[in-house]
Amino acid sequence: MYSVIILAAGKGTRLNLGYNKVFYEIHQKSILEYSVEYFLKDSSFSEVIIVTTEKDQSHVKELLKGKDVKITLGGITRQESVYNGLKKVNNKFVMIHDGARPFIDKNDIEKLKLTVKENPCVLGKKLKDSIAKVSFGKLKNYVNRDNYMLLLTPQAFTTDKIMKAYELSLVNENSYSDDASLYMQELQEDVIILEGNENNIKLTTELDIKILEALL
Ligand code: CTP
Ligand code: MG
Repeated sequence: MYSVIILAAGKGTRLNLGYNKVFYEIHQKSILEYSVEYFLKDSSFSEVIIVTTEKDQSHVKELLKGKDVKITLGGITRQESVYNGLKKVNNKFVMIHDGARPFIDKNDIEKLKLTVKENPCVLGKKLKDSIAKVSFGKLKNYVNRDNYMLLLTPQAFTTDKIMKAYELSLVNENSYSDDASLYMQELQEDVIILEGNENNIKLTTELDIKILEALL
């Protein structure tokens, strides 16, 4: 059995809607509902934990009324929000998912479920554009994009080990924008990257709205 933590305690500053972007509706359904529904249908997820804010809590409850979810409060950073979510997990394995990623692919989830039995794992996607290391508006070193991947969610772990990694990150005062990097860095252990569906985009800017309108 698996637990999933769905993060929805952000502000959506870059999208600038005046409210949390996970409530943005596409085809009369909120991004958060899309992100949650897959896990509610898949019976191997016995626990769905939504991380929200005090301000948004009643809105989340209203949207997910009657659904078998646990709701808990997040923190200032994504990292704090994940840590709060982890404290509620009761299964051996946990997946961590951005509530702002509404497109979930069944194949991706099945790959994560299988892989996490042996190794922590994360979905990734190849880069289409070239990338560069940049400093003060100028290119620095050339980097070969074949050596890089973009990290998506869900990311899947053994609960006690990701918890341990999070506790270490607190002690060491290290900050991360994703869980697989935190795990790899704090525990010095390998994390497997699995190529995920490229439709798994994170609602971040207005362009993403147009793309998601076509995909969902
Ligand atoms: N998140 C969270 N708690 C935070 C910050 C972010 O639970 N303190 C969640 C967001 O709700 C989102 C996911 O983490 O589902 C990925 O973060 P991001 O895309 O950065 O969302 P926001 O932080 O809301 O957006 P922005 O950075 O533009 O403000
Ligand atoms: Mg953010």
